[in-house]
Amino acid sequence: MRTQVGIIGAGPAGLMLSHLLHRRGIESVVLESRPRALIEETIRAGILEQSTVDLMVEIGVGERLKREGVIHHGTLLRFNGQNHRIDFEKLTGGRVVTLYPQHEVLKDLIKARLDAGGDIRFEAKVTTIEEAESPQPRLRFTDREGRAQSLECDFIAGCDGSYGVSRPAIPDAKREDYLRIYPFGWFGILCEAPPSAEELVYARHERGFALISSRTPEVQRMYFQCDPNDKVENWSEDRIWAELQARVSGEDGFRLKEGRIFQKNIVPMRSFVCEPMQYGRLFIAGDAAHTVPPTGAKGLNLAVADVFVLDRALGRFYADGSHDLLDAYSETALRRVWRAQHFSWWMTSMLHRFEEAGEFDHRRQLAELDLVTSTVPAATSLAQNYVGMPLG
Ligand code: DHB
Repeated sequence: MRTQVGIIGAGPAGLMLSHLLHRRGIESVVLESRPRALIEETIRAGILEQSTVDLMVEIGVGERLKREGVIHHGTLLRFNGQNHRIDFEKLTGGRVVTLYPQHEVLKDLIKARLDAGGDIRFEAKVTTIEEAESPQPRLRFTDREGRAQSLECDFIAGCDGSYGVSRPAIPDAKREDYLRIYPFGWFGILCEAPPSAEELVYARHERGFALISSRTPEVQRMYFQCDPNDKVENWSEDRIWAELQARVSGEDGFRLKEGRIFQKNIVPMRSFVCEPMQYGRLFIAGDAAHTVPPTGAKGLNLAVADVFVLDRALGRFYADGSHDLLDAYSETALRRVWRAQHFSWWMTSMLHRFEEAGEFDHRRQLAELDLVTSTVPAATSLAQNYVGMPLG
């Protein structure tokens, strides 16, 4: 079997790349270890930057997003028991974010690829990447029936997430990993309840951070900072609601609308970057190359931004044989990656409770939140980073 671009992983990066390449007439095969139903049902992130939305519309996969996505013109930062609004639209000259869950993005991309006759192999597990430094790299994989297969490619795109085979295929001596682990995680829930606020609420409280988000008018997504080694079984519904209510409580009397909790999970928090994002003809993108802590909702958007750059570079190569954009891929993508790393780290640091922090740090944190919510330059910086830079 052979193709032009072998793509490992049918997440946002892999599927978006396959669709972008198809629009240029470049052929790809996507190999995904999980079944289609699992990808289409697993609930993950929810916030799309303006440029992610614009790109999806431009390339013909934005119809349902336009219809069902909910535009958020701003967000609320909550501290000292009060909400403070950051108006994205006003501060960025009209840019906003859209709440549209990641698994809905994936459904739209999978449908678009399959409708166009695209080749996505689900339950196909890549075992090795061979000869990445040669002009004809190869992927070895086990197909759904358990048979060993191989795929010859011109290029390989590693879009297989933090725990995939792509990043480890770059020899240790050829890459540098940058890692920061945070001493806390996020306890996430999905519940059957109406929204508690019209916009997302990022809350800083002495007991720790909480985030009030949404999925649909009937289903809400909420998170609270927790011990990363805690177990979801330790948390009854009553205990979860008591903790969440405490973290958003305040003199304005704000209360969360409670409802049956039907999913609980704990997400660890880390910041990670692998440099460079290329080894020979292997290019890594999205979580395969970097992880951000969820505060600020950059993960999916960064994956899309990476493959936007990669698609252009591959387009140039197939158009005139020139390598210049491919050679620049890592450096170009990393500039945005590090900007998002800084933003996600900054939002995390400003809003979470650090065990070792003393009273000085608490006061400093509150002063920073006061600066961000009461001065235009600081609010603008948050807003611009949140809605994201234009692509390219
Ligand atoms: C969601 C997650 C985030 O990390 C965030 O910053 C905003 C929203 C969410 O899952 O809805």
